[in-house]
This record gives sequence, structure tokens and C-alpha cells, in this order.
Amino acid sequence: MKLNYSAGRQRRSSSGQRRSKSYALSEVQTGHLRLKLSFEGIYKATGKFSPANKIGEGGFGTVYKAQLENGLTVAVKRAKVDKYDPSLSAEFKNEILTLSKIEHLNLVRFYGYVEHEAELIIVVEYISNGTLREHLDGKCGNGLEIAERLDIAIDIAHAITYLHTYTDPPIIHRDIKASNILLTDKLRAKVADFGFARLGVEDPEASHISTQIKGTAGYLDPEYLKTYQLTEKSDVYSFGVLLVEIITGRHPIESKRSLDERVTTRWALKRLKDGEAVVAMDPRLESSVGSIQAVEKVLKLARQCLAPSRQSRPSMRKCAEVLWEIRKEEREISSLSNAAASSFHSANLIETHQTKSLQNLFGIEGSDSLMFVSL
Ligand SMILES: Nc1ncnc2c1ncn2[C@@H]1O[C@H](COP(=O)(O)OP(=O)(O)OP(=O)(O)O)[C@@H](O)[C@H]1O
Ligand SMILES: [Mg+2]
Repeated sequence: MKLNYSAGRQRRSSSGQRRSKSYALSEVQTGHLRLKLSFEGIYKATGKFSPANKIGEGGFGTVYKAQLENGLTVAVKRAKVDKYDPSLSAEFKNEILTLSKIEHLNLVRFYGYVEHEAELIIVVEYISNGTLREHLDGKCGNGLEIAERLDIAIDIAHAITYLHTYTDPPIIHRDIKASNILLTDKLRAKVADFGFARLGVEDPEASHISTQIKGTAGYLDPEYLKTYQLTEKSDVYSFGVLLVEIITGRHPIESKRSLDERVTTRWALKRLKDGEAVVAMDPRLESSVGSIQAVEKVLKLARQCLAPSRQSRPSMRKCAEVLWEIRKEEREISSLSNAAASSFHSANLIETHQTKSLQNLFGIEGSDSLMFVSL
């Protein structure tokens, strides 16, 4: 695929007042789909930012679904007014160029952005099947099985590994969490908002800490909080929190629960330590030998990711490998138990068939009328 950039174009409206700049890929995806972003085009495509097209609201601002003139459906993220600091735009432009070059099956594609007056609008790939958090909450989909959850965890691990190895210095996501994981109709996971925390958008929301530290409460690496030093291992820590979330179905912080259950990672890892990982398993998961074993192994991996010192945490690549093994074992166990169940079923069928043949032979109607007569 060839990428062309139309960077830093400045335009003036007829009034001479409006100023918009856009960095957009002029060719995206295969099939030579042309994508030119302008504030006017986005304004039109979102129905003037109509509430009917609103699909979500986050710390960054409001998210809209929009269909561009070339037919491409996109998600448009409009920063809250006054949050964007244009003085940071040099750093921002560099970052945007890096982000827009990244293509990976498990990363939400970044198409471009438009600066308009004091506004910043980001245009990304639209993903249709809700967030992982919505699926875990039962607000979307039919509940995720253990195999699906393992596949999702592997997808996420691959995506973050890619970010960490794509450039030197690495791209650190900084905001790995279940609401930033979007699911496709086939339940493939796509990681959203990578690198956004570096884009110079200040966020005064309570759940986010602005100034130097970016991220979401409950997912933040304690070592980063202490030292202000950000490394790939901060993402590994957040991934550990996410693994616990995937297994327990609970939110990282459950403020309505009793004190010992309020911080989900602490509660789940205590259950693991006490040899009762099964207690931490999401009650919506089907309990089987395979699922219980997978839950225990994923929690063990999460424990490593959540190690207080970052040197003790595994790399994302290692996490992906461990999860791959866990999924392989889970598949083997479940296919063995399926085979056992079906051979039990066919043994029953043979028995039933033999009984029926005997019944026919002796001219007996049904089992109810079977009588044992001693000769
Ligand atoms: N690319 C997308 N495709 C489809 N829906 C999206 C997309 N991006 C975001 N959304 C929807 O919009 C909601 C808000 O997203 P947004 O990223 O602004 O906030 P968040 O991830 O919930 O929180 P934060 O601001 O902390 O990242 C998401 O929960 C999701 O439902
Ligand atoms: Mg998000």
C-alpha cells in the first residue's frame, strides 16, 4: 500500500476567520480508496455532529459514526472544546505521522485529523461490535466464552507487541483498558487510542490524571506513578489488569463491593494465592476442566504482569506466547471432553439400538412392557 500525506495545509473560509488544518492520508486501505479530510466534509458526514450519530463519549470528547463521501464508514472523535492546546502541535504532528503509518489487524486504523479553530477532530476506523467492556458487562453480544476471551487476550497482546517493536523508541499505548478494546463482528479485538495520550490533549476528568501522567485509574503502573518514567512495562502492567478483568468480568475498581473485593486485581490474586482461582472466575463462564485451568493460568500470567518492579514483568511478546499456550491447552482439553461426550453419546446410541433390536426380536413394544421371567 502506498501512503500519501497532505500535511499542514491551511485554508481560509470566505469570512477569512475560520482556519483549518488537516493531516490526512490521501490514499487509505487497498482498492485505492481516496480519503480527503476536511472540517466541512466531517461536519456534513456527521450530520452537523448530530446527537443521532453519536456513538460514545470519553475523556477526549464525543465520538460520532460517519460515512464519508467515498462511502467509508469512520469514527470521528471530536475533542472537547478548550481541551486541545495548539501550542503542542509540533509534537502532535510528529506523533500523528507515526500513528497514521501503523497498520495491524489488531489495531484500530488511524486515518487522520483535522484542526479547526480551537478544535481537534480525529478520524479512525469504525469498529461495529462494541467494546470489550460492554461485552463483559453483557450490554453487547451473548456473553464471551473462555476460548473467545483467550483469543481476544492474544489479539491484544499481539497489537501491543507490535506497538512496542514498531519504532525505536517504542510507542507506548499508555491507556490499555477494556473500553479501548473494540470488537469486530467475528469477535476479533482491535486496540484503539494508541499513542493518543501523547497528543497534547489535556483531560481534567476525575478518572484521568492530566499534566504529566496519563492513563486511567485502576490500570496505572505504580512504578510510573512513583518515578514518572514511562516504559513498555507500564503497558504490561495495564495489560495485567485487563487480563484479570477478562477472567473475572469485574471492573478494575468495584467501589460498591466489600473492602477486600474493591480492588479486583488484589482480590483475584489473593484467590489465586489461596488455591481457589475458580472463585475469581466470571460466573458467566461455563465451568469445565479446561476453563478452570485456563483461568488459573491466566491469573498466574496476570500476577507476573502486575509485579511491583517493572524488571520482573514479562515483555508483551512473552505474554502473547504464554497466552497462546494456554489457549492451545484449553482447545485440547475441550476437544478431548467433546470427544468423550460424543463417544459416551454413541455408546448410549448402540445400547439403545441393541435394546430396540431385542424388543423387535421378542415382539415386545417398548421398555415399559419389558418383564423378566425366570425360566
Ligand atoms: N473506532 C471506534 N469505532 C466504534 N466505536 C468507537 C470507536 N472509538 C470509540 N468508540 C465508542 O465511543 C466510546 C467512547 O470512546 P472514547 O475513546 O472517547 O472513550 P473511552 O475509551 O471510553 O474512554 P477514554 O476517553 O478514557 O479513552 C467507546 O466506549 C466506544 O463505545
Ligand atoms: Mg477510547
